[in-house]
Amino acid sequence: MGFTINEKVTWVGKIDWELRRFHGDEYSVDRGSSYNSYLIRDEKTVLVDTVWKPFAKEFVANLKKEVDLNDIDFIVMNHGEIDHSGALPELMREIPDTPIYCTANGIKSIKGHFHENWNFIPVKTGDTLKIGQNDLVFVEARMLHWPDSMFTYMTNDNILFSNDAFGQHYASEYMYNDLVSPDELYSEAIKYYANILNPFSSLVKRKIEEVVKLDIPIDMICPSHGIIWRKDPLQIVEQYMKWAQDYQEDQISIIYDTMWEGTRRMAEALAEGIKEVDDKVNIKLFNTSKTDKNDVITEIFKSKAVLLGSPTVNGSILTSMAAIVDLAGGLKFKNKKGAAFGTYGWSGESVKILTQHLENAGFEVVNQGIREMWNPDDAGLDRCREFGREFAQAL
Ligand code: FEO
Repeated sequence: MGFTINEKVTWVGKIDWELRRFHGDEYSVDRGSSYNSYLIRDEKTVLVDTVWKPFAKEFVANLKKEVDLNDIDFIVMNHGEIDHSGALPELMREIPDTPIYCTANGIKSIKGHFHENWNFIPVKTGDTLKIGQNDLVFVEARMLHWPDSMFTYMTNDNILFSNDAFGQHYASEYMYNDLVSPDELYSEAIKYYANILNPFSSLVKRKIEEVVKLDIPIDMICPSHGIIWRKDPLQIVEQYMKWAQDYQEDQISIIYDTMWEGTRRMAEALAEGIKEVDDKVNIKLFNTSKTDKNDVITEIFKSKAVLLGSPTVNGSILTSMAAIVDLAGGLKFKNKKGAAFGTYGWSGESVKILTQHLENAGFEVVNQGIREMWNPDDAGLDRCREFGREFAQAL
């Protein structure tokens, strides 16, 4: 059921405690999520976004308890992806002529998904919809995170409906940033940024600068997933500015997979070497076949440097590492250094392949990496410690 946000705005979305995978099977969700839809009642009645398709019937049934659907004057779709537009067919069956305000790309996206010629009204940055005491001002937010995305700003109440931006996959019965664990909230927000928004960081920065220049008051940020930012709402905007600008912490991540423990033993010796040079840096080891790939990506995002390891298998690298380097390549990390390591028995291509992936992904390659044959002996582990020391010194 919905809850009241203020005199004019009611949340009418869906909290999905059961969600464990998102974007097909690509994004792991540990704490559920929500699909936030908002009903604005001024002189005009406006619905902002809907929910994911599996909850369409429930959404429309609950919405009917809040409002006579025929009283909805306008629908605003900030973004056409199915998790927000999925209930539109169910809703539009009841109110087929209601105007849908979205960007020109939003029309393409929604038509592409549902093949319906609804009453679309294209909007662009600065367009304003008068709804009574308040206006709705549209701000295109291209690539945050799709080409069709936009924000809707409600004047007087000073609410920014930001859609995916500033969101998190995080379910809570409390729904406000001052009522949930900040550690959990920021852990989900950074995972969301690293895995979804990072490739568009330059656009994130530019969009935030553009909105800041408008000098509009923002009392609340209502995203389309997770928690609403009402206490010090600009804290997440400031955090996004940090994340958008070549973010790194004092962390080195050693990310590897292993067949017969040799590459794991190398990883541990590398960590020992790094620690001998710098006992303050946060050193973390992740076996990619045992660690969630989105969590590994989040750790890469936080790192100033990574060491990537795999033994050579079939002239290549292990598949869990192949998935990580492919994913990391698309996420376009910046301001990070790296090198590769791995064991081999025969041909030994893995280190070269991982080094190439680092280069392709935009990492500054510190050196050409280290290989050890079979399972390293004491001398081999000493070489790994020395490599770790040199790597730490080179950062
Ligand atoms: Fe939450 Fe881009 O959809």
